[in-house]
Amino acid sequence: MTGSAAAVRPLLDLAPDLDLDGITAESLRAAGHLKWTVSGPDLLGACAAEMDYGTAPPVTAALAEALGKGALGYLPQALADGLAEACAAWQRDSYGWDVAPADVRLLPDVVRAFHVAIDHFSRPGSPVIVPVPAFTPFLTVPGLLGREVIPVEMVRSAGRYVLDLDALDRAYTVGGHLLVLCNPHNPTGRVMETGELHAICEVVERHGGRVFADEVHAPLVYGGHRHVPYAATSPAAAQHTVTATSASKAWNLAGLKCAQMVLGNDADRDRWERLGRLATDGTSTLGAVAGTAAYRAGRPWLDAVLARLDHNRHLLAGLLAEHLPQVSHTPPEGTYLGWLDCRDLDLPGPDPATYFAAAAGVTTVDGGTCGAPGRGFVRVNFATTPEILTRIVRQLAAAAATA
Ligand SMILES: Cc1ncc(COP(=O)(O)O)c(C=O)c1O
Repeated sequence: MTGSAAAVRPLLDLAPDLDLDGITAESLRAAGHLKWTVSGPDLLGACAAEMDYGTAPPVTAALAEALGKGALGYLPQALADGLAEACAAWQRDSYGWDVAPADVRLLPDVVRAFHVAIDHFSRPGSPVIVPVPAFTPFLTVPGLLGREVIPVEMVRSAGRYVLDLDALDRAYTVGGHLLVLCNPHNPTGRVMETGELHAICEVVERHGGRVFADEVHAPLVYGGHRHVPYAATSPAAAQHTVTATSASKAWNLAGLKCAQMVLGNDADRDRWERLGRLATDGTSTLGAVAGTAAYRAGRPWLDAVLARLDHNRHLLAGLLAEHLPQVSHTPPEGTYLGWLDCRDLDLPGPDPATYFAAAAGVTTVDGGTCGAPGRGFVRVNFATTPEILTRIVRQLAAAAATA
């Protein structure tokens, strides 16, 4: 076996018990994943939202079978229909949300769904309302489409980030129309409760607004918390929302280009039928194969991943308390992202992420790219092995100590 084949193999051998033996920074780097190669050869990867666990065995098996059949052509309708049914069944079985498979439409990825929501499901020319801190494309994509962003700073309540309803109200008053509601939330890891969603719905309804609900992290929620689909909270929410989701985060399939948008009213259904290929093309055949297998048979592997991530989120908190006590951090309720407040470290350079990449050899996401309230923060991806996570925090701490 060649060196690179040896490096790739363990990721496909992990499941079902997620035994991480043999997974090292070197093997991950050799496998060539974006997170491990984005910033140079020697850095520990904690930036892009990819997991170091491969994917679920039923997904690998479905892909192998599809390849065996040479299923590399355009997306067949039967496969698209099967994915829509599998996605709807996942929503019903996991969250009690009754979605008609016919309302599940396919797109290549969640960011495309965001484009489509702005271009086709919000008032032409209207600014987009984005709670901050935010997943960076929520702040950059509207500008590419000729739209302004109205940032709405989230506030802290008992250590948890919540939406500021008065600020949201003002954002609608000054002309905002489409609210980006990312839940579970990247980067803060909040999982919103039903009462919060009802309160948001009231504000949206008062202004005749619309919601783009990004729920791609929904399967990645820890015990004690529960994902509640926003569109399932009331008929009004269902009417004014387009929801975007995908198996791409929970089953680690981002490169396969397959996401879903759930529609909730007749005008949107009509509108969708009139969309051109530029808006809707690009869902991949293998992505549909993988997404279907993930929704239908991926739950046992996901449970093993969640147990591992739950362990890691507490490990991260413990390591920070021990090695970087000046960094404040609340373990996330969902997602595999840690949101670290590094402002008290007083690090040199333009931002902590740049400093950590150079001085600690660790790539993180600069919180400043998540909007102004993220300045001085970094986002750390902890979906890795405990050994690598320990190295990451130790290296951050050593670099902070010499700043
Ligand atoms: C909240 C959120 N939305 C969307 C995406 C990107 O999804 P996609 O690759 O399907 O565009 C990510 C990726 O990390 C994300 O965290």
